[in-house]
Amino acid sequence: MRKLSPEREALLADKLPGLRVTLGENESLDPSTLCMPPAETVRLEIGFGAGEHLLHQALEHPECLHIGCEPYPAGVARLLADMGDADNIRIYDGDAFDLLSALKPASISRCYMMFPDPWPKKRHGKRRMTRMEIVEQLARILKQGAELRIATDSGVFAGWMLANMRRCKSFVWDAGCSRDWREPRESYPPTRYELKARRGERAVMYLNFRRLDDNGL
Ligand SMILES: C[S@@+](CC[C@H](N)C(=O)[O-])C[C@H]1O[C@@H](n2cnc3c(N)ncnc32)[C@H](O)[C@@H]1O
Repeated sequence: MRKLSPEREALLADKLPGLRVTLGENESLDPSTLCMPPAETVRLEIGFGAGEHLLHQALEHPECLHIGCEPYPAGVARLLADMGDADNIRIYDGDAFDLLSALKPASISRCYMMFPDPWPKKRHGKRRMTRMEIVEQLARILKQGAELRIATDSGVFAGWMLANMRRCKSFVWDAGCSRDWREPRESYPPTRYELKARRGERAVMYLNFRRLDDNGL
């Protein structure tokens, strides 16, 4: 892992503690209480990388609280450097599964995964963001009607995700025609990984799922 500059180390030491999401031992986390007054709408981005998409969303939607999850310190430091005084971002700098498991049921209004690592090899099975235990946690923490928006350039990842979402039965894939997965639902500046995919001429898929209600609607 590349060493951080002293400036970035200082940012992590000074700014992160005030924005960090910490998990309790036993009690579940109500994310709306991470700001004052409590947020009516909380959105989550898993694996935000350098934070471009998270910051864009936070600036576009100041009425929402945005939680970003990213274990890579250089990415967290980059977001801290770029976010200025934005006060509607909180950061969990650990593994997404731990955060998902701690969140209160039906507490998140939208979740983004922008180019999650596909972890394609068999020995990577436990790390995959498509694994069933992640999908089940997403079903538990997303509100009925909430969207899960995933962008990927990996056909393997997309296939696993679609198969597990179908098995879970709490989600429906919101795609009526190919445009729905060939184009993002709303425009945003491309993330680093997205630019890399485009430079490599890899097709990007935008998979949007909706959390169904108890009647499967
Ligand atoms: C391919 S990169 C994409 C980064 C960014 N979203 C983008 O589009 O440029 C995948 C990101 O997921 C993060 N990641 C990997 N495993 C994770 C986990 N278990 N929990 C949360 N984030 C994770 C990585 O650190 C990395 O930043």
